Amino acid sequence: MTEHEPRVPEVFATGIAADDVTDRAPRLVESPRGKLALVRDGDQIVAIDAWCPHLDGPLWEGSSAGGEIACPWHRWRFSLETGRCTWAPKGDAEEAAETSIDVYATALDAAGRVEVTLGPR
Ligand code: FES
Repeated sequence: MTEHEPRVPEVFATGIAADDVTDRAPRLVESPRGKLALVRDGDQIVAIDAWCPHLDGPLWEGSSAGGEIACPWHRWRFSLETGRCTWAPKGDAEEAAETSIDVYATALDAAGRVEVTLGPR
């Protein structure tokens, strides 16, 4: 980082109510780090990369279950805890084993809206 580069805030307030993030309806948000998808994982909300690392599918249009998000395009699945790819079709398995997404922790503000911890750059 240069002396004149703006600092990115560590916590990003999305303004989105946690109740509006469901298993079948992740939400797309524009953070200071770029687009993120808010995804429900049971009682928790996590923020992940918006774009699938396979072929840039829209992960916010995927669905979550069992601690994973499934990409809507070719069904690769990613752990919502580690970000690692947990499943891909047989022909993609070798590439998928080396693939992961970034996962960011979240918290709720006093009104139940999601805040994303982006961490230091
Ligand atoms: S673009 Fe996501 S699995 Fe292919």
